[in-house]
Amino acid sequence: MTGDTWGHNRLGHSLQLSPTKIVPMCGIVGYVGDNKSLEVLMGGLRRLEYRGYDSAGIAVIDDEGRLNTAKRAGKLAMLSNELKRNPISNGSTGIGHTRWATHGGPTDHNAHPHLGDNGRLALIHNGIIENFAPLKDELLAEGFTFESETDTEVAAVLLGREYQRTGDLGEAFRSVVSRLDGAFTLLAVHQDQPGVVVGARRNSPLVIGLGEGENFLGSDVAAFVEYTRRAVAIGQDQIVTITPGAVTVTDFDGNPVETEEFDIAWDASASDKGGWSSFMAKEVSEQPEAVANTILGRIIDGQVVIPELTDLGDDLLAGIRRIVIVACGTAAYAGQTAKYAIEKWAGVPVDVELSHEFRYRDPVLTADTLVVSISQSGETMDTLMAVKYAREAGARAISVCNTQGATIPRESDAVIYTHAGPEVAVASTKAFVAQITALYLFALHLARVRGALSPEELAAQAAELQAIPEKIQIALKEADTVRQLAMWMSDTRAVLFLGRHVGFPIALEGALKLKELAYIHAEGFAAGELKHGPIALIEPGQPVFVVVPSPRGSAHLHPKVVSNIQEIRARGARIIAIAEQGDAAVLPFADTVIHIPLAAPLFEPLLAVIPLQIFAMELATAKGLDVDQPRNLAKSVTVE
Ligand code: F6R
Repeated sequence: MTGDTWGHNRLGHSLQLSPTKIVPMCGIVGYVGDNKSLEVLMGGLRRLEYRGYDSAGIAVIDDEGRLNTAKRAGKLAMLSNELKRNPISNGSTGIGHTRWATHGGPTDHNAHPHLGDNGRLALIHNGIIENFAPLKDELLAEGFTFESETDTEVAAVLLGREYQRTGDLGEAFRSVVSRLDGAFTLLAVHQDQPGVVVGARRNSPLVIGLGEGENFLGSDVAAFVEYTRRAVAIGQDQIVTITPGAVTVTDFDGNPVETEEFDIAWDASASDKGGWSSFMAKEVSEQPEAVANTILGRIIDGQVVIPELTDLGDDLLAGIRRIVIVACGTAAYAGQTAKYAIEKWAGVPVDVELSHEFRYRDPVLTADTLVVSISQSGETMDTLMAVKYAREAGARAISVCNTQGATIPRESDAVIYTHAGPEVAVASTKAFVAQITALYLFALHLARVRGALSPEELAAQAAELQAIPEKIQIALKEADTVRQLAMWMSDTRAVLFLGRHVGFPIALEGALKLKELAYIHAEGFAAGELKHGPIALIEPGQPVFVVVPSPRGSAHLHPKVVSNIQEIRARGARIIAIAEQGDAAVLPFADTVIHIPLAAPLFEPLLAVIPLQIFAMELATAKGLDVDQPRNLAKSVTVE
């Protein structure tokens, strides 16, 4: 591998990157078409509510050319109730917003939209306008007044002033964005321009939906997938104007830019609950399809070929000396799981790093390092910054992502899409198994181009992967046992999770699910680490989940984990073992055994995680908690 292929041979320690932006999550939807703005906006907000649920609001231009707005603190249901109590007239043009508050508390006043031009213009925003204070001073000095504490209202008032000056929303936008520092997606409507929605984007997502006689804007395609499957991603620092019959995209100076249309692979029903009690319950049940769809078309005659990687070139992949996986939360645990497979099959050393730690510690990136990011949303700011850092340092970066048109794939050299379908519940489940699947496919692709495994070995591993959807289906059948366990344990105050080898990241994931859904203190440990400290936590009655390796596939590790179980049981722990069907050795020592089907050791995580997800979901349900929207969280973490 030469320095030419990879850029510099050794990359600098103190790269100067563009300043980090802090972007709050929030969901944004815009519509122009016939008279159904309200339905489109409320439907879009329902699908985007995972992005934030501190407040919601809409603005619609009705047939009389009046701008009507409604907004309420709290979940979308509060806005729906408000609209039932005080209906507003429908119209052909509108914008809607669901908020995750960072700037000004989650109150009615701070809810979007905010108004400008004496209530004739409405604006919604996702991001932070860093220089809002001097801009506000400037506007106050000119006699403008404000009703909220938000930076967004400053942009609304400024846009109103520029509209007054220019008489055109697009031109007013160009003038405003040139004054703003920070990160933003902005959408606005003006009652003098019915049939027009204008948006701008910097460091925050925005996608166009193309319809027949109608067009849409959304933070992601879920906002409009009910109406169209044709979409266009908007690039950095671009302004878009939609009317019922046209879409125009320019840069911030007004120069037209090329855009690329793509087809949305999901259909609308994929982002509905479809009769399930929660999105999470539905998504847990969809895991066999998530894995099967991610494999689809990528294993041909037993050989894994990922077409998306062909542009990178086999020579480049063959020359890699090190892989750094960057991701956060559950996605990072998918990376930690895949590390074992990539190292074993492809023979390349893998480091797994939390994106935010990687980005701020001057990582050493050698010329033959490949950075692999993992992100369900494709918008996680920590991971985006890590990818940008790696690429500005000259490294190649590929991403594993579940969301078409998202920012991280756009910032990467190649993307391997997971095909889990839209994941709406805040806690990640089906995206996790799809991420591991995509990374295993990547490992096998890499092993093939590097000649690290024989065609027979490659085919054997590919066949193991292809058998996983059916095995997950069997693992899901333990749901009743797990539900009962969760109901008995609904008063539990702390739970420990132990795992070894690929069971270790699964223990971490089990603990994370329980923390975020049931608000219970939970910790995951490597079972081998127990004697080095954590065993002091064991006291009579302490529940401990143990992910037990297969006695067949991991004959050397299985007895060690069974010994760990005996050690903690002797000190009073209550053992819940996740063990392979037929594993008799754990039976005498476990209070409860949850069985998973037989699989080769590297594939066990895809099965062992299932009962842990269900346990967290059922325990949260038993406590009366909202499993789709846990407190303080949002699905797309676009804040650093
Ligand atoms: C936990 C969870 C989070 C995400 C993390 C990364 O259930 O969902 O830990 O995995 O915020 O999100 P993405 O994958 O969108 O980058």
